[in-house]
This record gives sequence, C-alpha cells and structure tokens, in this order.
Amino acid sequence: MDIQALLNKMTVKEKIYQLLMMNTLAYAGKKEENLTGPAAKLIFDKNYLFESGSALNSVGARRMIDIQKNYLENSKNKIPLIFTQDVIHGYRTLYPVNLAIASSFDTKLAHDCAQMAAKEASIDGVQVTFAPMVDLVRDPRWGRVMESSGEDPYLNCKMAKATVEGYQGDMGKYNIAACVKHFAAYGAAEGGRDYNCVDMGEPTLRNYYLPAYKAAIDAGVMTLMTSFNSLNGVPSAGNKWLVKDILRDEWGFDGVVISDYASFREMIVHGYAEDGKDAAYKAMEATGDIEMSSTNYPLYLEELISEGKISMEQLDKAVLRVLKLKDDLGLFDNPYRSTDVEEAEKIILCKEHRDLARYAAEESAVLLKNNGILPLKEDVSSVAVIGPLANTGEIFGNWHCGAKAEETITVLDGIKSIIGDRAKYAKGCDIEITSTDESQIAKAVKLAKKCEKVVLCLGEHQFDSGESQCKAILELPEVQYKLLNEVLKVNKNVVVLLFTGRPLAIERLDAIAPAILNMWMPGTEGGNAAANLLFARSVPSGKITMSFPRVSGQCPIYYNSYNTGRPKLQKDLVREKYTSSYLDVLNSPLYPFGYGMSYSTFEYSDKAIDKTTMTRGEKIIASVKVKNTGNYKCKEIVQLYIRDLVGSIVRPVKELKGFEKIELDIGEEKTVTFEIDEESLAFYGADLTKKAESGKFQVFIGASSDCEPFAEFELK
Ligand code: BGC
Repeated sequence: MDIQALLNKMTVKEKIYQLLMMNTLAYAGKKEENLTGPAAKLIFDKNYLFESGSALNSVGARRMIDIQKNYLENSKNKIPLIFTQDVIHGYRTLYPVNLAIASSFDTKLAHDCAQMAAKEASIDGVQVTFAPMVDLVRDPRWGRVMESSGEDPYLNCKMAKATVEGYQGDMGKYNIAACVKHFAAYGAAEGGRDYNCVDMGEPTLRNYYLPAYKAAIDAGVMTLMTSFNSLNGVPSAGNKWLVKDILRDEWGFDGVVISDYASFREMIVHGYAEDGKDAAYKAMEATGDIEMSSTNYPLYLEELISEGKISMEQLDKAVLRVLKLKDDLGLFDNPYRSTDVEEAEKIILCKEHRDLARYAAEESAVLLKNNGILPLKEDVSSVAVIGPLANTGEIFGNWHCGAKAEETITVLDGIKSIIGDRAKYAKGCDIEITSTDESQIAKAVKLAKKCEKVVLCLGEHQFDSGESQCKAILELPEVQYKLLNEVLKVNKNVVVLLFTGRPLAIERLDAIAPAILNMWMPGTEGGNAAANLLFARSVPSGKITMSFPRVSGQCPIYYNSYNTGRPKLQKDLVREKYTSSYLDVLNSPLYPFGYGMSYSTFEYSDKAIDKTTMTRGEKIIASVKVKNTGNYKCKEIVQLYIRDLVGSIVRPVKELKGFEKIELDIGEEKTVTFEIDEESLAFYGADLTKKAESGKFQVFIGASSDCEPFAEFELK
C-alpha cells in the first residue's frame, strides 16, 4: 500500500481519527447506535467514529470479523481497524505468569510461550498485543510484578528480546505485533502503590530501568506503550525528554507509540496539563501516536494545528506510523488477517498448547524449602489435598483473555491423575484476603489426620496480583496460618504448595512448613504441573527472580543494591549500631534472587578465570565445574555475577552478567563457561556516557545471588 498517497487524500480530521483507539464494541453497531455506556461520555465527533484507527480488547474470531466488516461498510476511507488485546502470559491457554516464566531462566521457553499465545490470539482476531511488560521491579507490594521478569536488568533484557521475538517472529500468519511497556520506570512506583510517581536520577534510570525497553526495540518491537506514572515530575504520556529525545532521537525508534488507558487525559489529573487541549499538545509534542480510551486528540488537535502550535508535519508523521503498522500487519490486503473461526476452535487450548503450558509451569516452579519430605512416592497410601487453592481452576493468573476456571487443571485433578482416589480433598479456609472464617478448619484437620501425607495449597487469590492489586502486607492471612498449624498438630508430613503472583513475606511459613514448593500462578495446566513436581515426574529447577522479603517492611528489597558507606558487617546479627540496618530484622531477604532448590544436589568446583588482566576489546573466560551429586536427573541454573569495585558513581554489590541452565544426569559433571567482555562491564557513570571504567572487578559464580567472589581481574 502506498501509505503516503493514502495520507495525501485524507482530511485533517480523518488523519486525527486514525490516532484514536476506542473499545472494540464501539464499532459493533450502526454509527448512531454506538458509543453507549462509558464511551458515550467521551464527547467527540461521532460522525468520524468509523475513521478511528484501532480497537481495544478482543471479542473472538466471529465477532471480530463482523465488527471489522461493519466498520469498513460504515467507513469513508475504509482503512481497516487494528484489533488489540493484552495477551500477556498466554491467550486462552494460559502459561504461568511472567514472573514465573522468568524463574525458569529459559529464554527459549519465554519465546515459545509468546509464540503459541500469538498463534491462538492471531486466529481469534488479535493483531497487536500489549506485551511484553519489561518494567524493572524491586518492590513486591506492587501488584504488577507478576507481569515482569523481576529485579534484574540483565535477565530483563534477555526475556524482553525472547518475548518480542516469540510474538512477532517473521510476522507471518500466526504472529502478532508486540508492544513493549510501560515506558518508563512504571515498576518503580513509590511505595509499591500502582500509578504512583517515580523520582529517580538519570544514572539509575539508564543503568537499571531503561535497558529492557531498549532491548525490546533492538529486537524489533513494532509498538511501545508509555506509562501512567510521572517520572521526575513529568507524566510519561507527555514526557518529551523521555519519548522524543531518548526513545525516538537517541534510540531511533520509529514504531507506533501508544498511550496507556486514558493516560492523555490523566495528565490533567496529575496537574501537568491545564486541560484537554494542553494534554493533546503535550502528548503530540512528545510524539505520542495513538490515544487509548480518551479523546483529546480528536477534540483538540485540529484547533492546535490551526493555531500553529502543532504542525501538520507532526500529525502526518504520527498518522504515517499508524498506517505503516497497518500495512506491516497486512491489513490493507486482508483486514481480517489470520482470523479464522474454525481454526480458532481447533487450535485454542489444543493439546500442544496445553503441553507447553504444563512444561512451562514445571520449569517455573521454585522449590523454596524441603526437609526431605519431597518428592512424594506414587505408592503413597493417601494424600489429603487441602487448602483454598487446592480444588479451584482460579490459578491461571490475572491476564486471562477470557479463559475460564473450568478450563484449568486444579491441583486436586492433577494429583488424582497420578494417584486416583487416594487423593482426598477438604477446603480448610477461604482465599479472600479479608477472610477470618475458621469454620472449615476442623473438617480439614480430620482429613489430614486420616491421610499419610498432606498437600496444603496456600497463597493469594489470582486476582490479588495484577494492575492496581497492591498490598502493604505481604504476609499470608492469619486464617491460612491457623489452618497450617492445626494440620501440623495431627500430621507432620505437610508439603505447602504456594500460589502467588508476587514474592510474599513468608518467614513464618518457612519456619514451620516441612516443604514449600512455589507454583506462582501456574496457568491452565497448573494442577498437572504441580502433581508432576510433587511426585518427581519432573524435578524442580526454577530460581526466583525477585527477592522474597522476610517481612513486608523490608521492601523495596533487591540483591543488586549499593554497599553504602556503612554496610552491615555481621550479616546474621540483627542489631548492629551505626550500620545500614534494621533494629528488628536482618537486611537479607528470606530467599535471595536466583535461589531455588532441586531434589538433587550439586557440587560447584574449579571456579576459575583465564586471566587477571583485561585490556580493552579482550574477553575473560570464567568457568566452573558443576556436578550432579544427588539421585535425580535434573537441571541447574548456574549464575555469574560481577562487582565493579570502584566507579565514577557507586556500583552495585554484585550484578548478574551471565547464566546457563544445564541438564545433568545422576553423577554427571559439566563445565560451564562465561565470557566477560567490555560491554558486560559498561555502565552510565558520572558523565552519563556508557562505558567500562578501568579498575578492579570481582567475579562470583554460584547457584544464587548469595555467593562469594572467587577471583579478581583488572580492566586496563
Ligand atoms: C494497563 C496496560 C494495558 C491497558 C489496556 C491499562 O490499564 O496499564 O498495561 O495494556 O490497560 O488494557
């Protein structure tokens, strides 16, 4: 399509409407009938509704076809709509939440899950997904940590790239365009409270928060979403420095920039724009292209152009980016793209997708504690499957694209599929965060007393993490502790399966539970994955990518922090006067970044680097031997960390710079090597340019971030 020629034929108003994204249902009926409900409150010229550029939220293949058809029949320019949806951790087949997938440290898995989600979504009428979310997170109080890959920028970049490539592939039939979000630093919301402001210096922004957005762009992401938060006082939707100067000019991103939901309008509420006109002005100055679910562009852009405040060139550039996206999606050739009702029925939730979902949930689970009770034996006489999350399909996670609980395998189903009726169920208590009802505990205790083993499914409701689901208290509700304690009184053989979208503060749980297997929110096949892990049909290998605090008051908490001028010297002592510490709790997390157990054991030996001096352009090879010394064939995630000892600005106590997931037979030993190059030492220093500064570096290799340096080298 000659999009320039198309643009030349459009009136100013028609161009402006290409920048509008309304809810899909707004385009479902006749022109006059539409815009009922909340959409009706967005006053703009309804005669142009059918010139709008894009639609938010999918409606399934059949309705998508009807709506696109209706739209095109009513539209003057007949430029197809783009259909968008939050396909975040799967479509109808749900994979574990993104924080869980990250715990697999398996970028191919992240890629494959995105690819399969794209396949289901594309045939069901979706062309753009609002993913990946690559916001770096350090505070599990924030509900959206479930959508992230955790606290580490290096892993975040790897996952960003893999996910973008999974969705987009070569933009064939089964691919969809990705949208990296939320630009920028949305994950640093103050106090872990959603939509809250972010204040941070540029070195922190550039060294930790921005790299993953950039990695997505380098991977070819076609669109980007700005964030709700203000950054150093300026809401991202109208942040010219962030979007125009850094994203467009410095990084060269020429894809479509989409606002977050009504965030142009919210600039007024932030106190950054005087009114809708000012908001439209600031958004356009920042080169925002698509306005999602508010209508300041349609209402005010024309006026701003006639007053000369916004140029026609600015508008044209934005519209051309939207038209190019439509062209790249192939919509001018086929406005329905890959939408196919029959294929959707066949492929959505098909065995291949479910198999991947199960595998992903197994790879993502993290064994947090095991006193030896795990794995269970398949000839067990009976298992009491207890808890508010034991017999529910509501473990598929927050972004669910219309998935239903009944499509999800429950833990009880999963265990029954291995041991049949020897699995018995009692609920024990409710999952609601405010529930204090203890009336169901007695029945569960009675069951626990009769059974050989107990699998106790605790945690949080799947919708208690996600957008706006923030918590000040990360501890488990009292009623769940009461249930656990009562069960322990009659049966010590208790395995806790934890279901959560975020790190919880489970110090008390760790103290009393014989074993804790963290399933996160494991998706459609969660129950089968849990059962396979419990009975060692699959061996846990995941490692957490966000530190688990001991208590909520430690948040934010992350491994790659600074040393301070007064670091705590005695790590295991609570009170240490005049050091950076608490009076009442240790500094260290309950479980550190990169931590996770296996049913097997490993021996790390012969850690080495091949030289102790690095001249610029050279590489250092770090290596280690890892041996499986246990009784299970299994996987291990070997991690490399580096500490830059002195910098023009202070440097973290350690930073992940490499990882490798290896598979080891019983007794097998493998040598793992990592390349350290100048790029892996580079950072934005005092002068805000990125470079590796000369000096000394420590090298660490270990099974988690809680490891000691074994060597030092110098960069000359
Ligand atoms: C969220 C985005 C999402 C958008 C569209 C917003 O509330 O912040 O992540 O993509 O809604 O559903």
